[in-house]
Amino acid sequence: MLITIEGIDGTGKSTLIKNLKDQLSDLDPVFTREPGSTWIGEMVRKGIAENINPVSEALLFTADHAAHLETVIRPGLGEGKIVISDRYSDSRYAYQASTLKGLIPNPMEWMKNIHRGWTVVPDLTFLLLIPVEDAIERLNRDRKHHEHFECMSTLEEVKNNYITLAEEEPERFVLVDALMDPAGISEFVAGEIRRRAEIKK
Ligand code: TYD
Repeated sequence: MLITIEGIDGTGKSTLIKNLKDQLSDLDPVFTREPGSTWIGEMVRKGIAENINPVSEALLFTADHAAHLETVIRPGLGEGKIVISDRYSDSRYAYQASTLKGLIPNPMEWMKNIHRGWTVVPDLTFLLLIPVEDAIERLNRDRKHHEHFECMSTLEEVKNNYITLAEEEPERFVLVDALMDPAGISEFVAGEIRRRAEIKK
């Protein structure tokens, strides 16, 4: 079973993943992430830091995804494991739909088409939702340096793109109120994962 965790920067994904590692340890899931599960992820980080053009950036993220599928996702699923990825294809559909706006007609569709036919679609996607002002405040609190994605207008667009994706596939997405306390969030998500894993057996 493939489970993905999505949301704009500053929604508390890292804390959630840390808690899930403790709470789901008996299920022995594979925890992974995008970008960065392979060396291509290093190129992506370099690209983000150097603010390369958005088309190159989008294709680097996608190259990282292809390597991630081959080295982590498919082998994990092949062994019958629960695979939990911190960000996945929906990050591209939501973020690059914003960064590619004006450069490519209908960028969300373009990104989806590039993935179609070879990607593995998640069974379940948790979308962490938070007002953009709160996300920015958390980012400011945690660190000084900001990636170019992390400005108010971009995050507002990205959030709306995520909501569009969730509306298109309500059976795959579970919306999570990321303003809840971290323990409440991880308890809810872990419980939901257990429930779905039981149904899938
Ligand atoms: P991430 O490593 O999750 O950031 P952090 O650990 O700092 O929260 O991702 C880095 C940035 O890349 C983040 O702003 C989201 C963005 N991103 C995309 O734009 N497209 C993608 O496909 C992915 C996976 C991430």
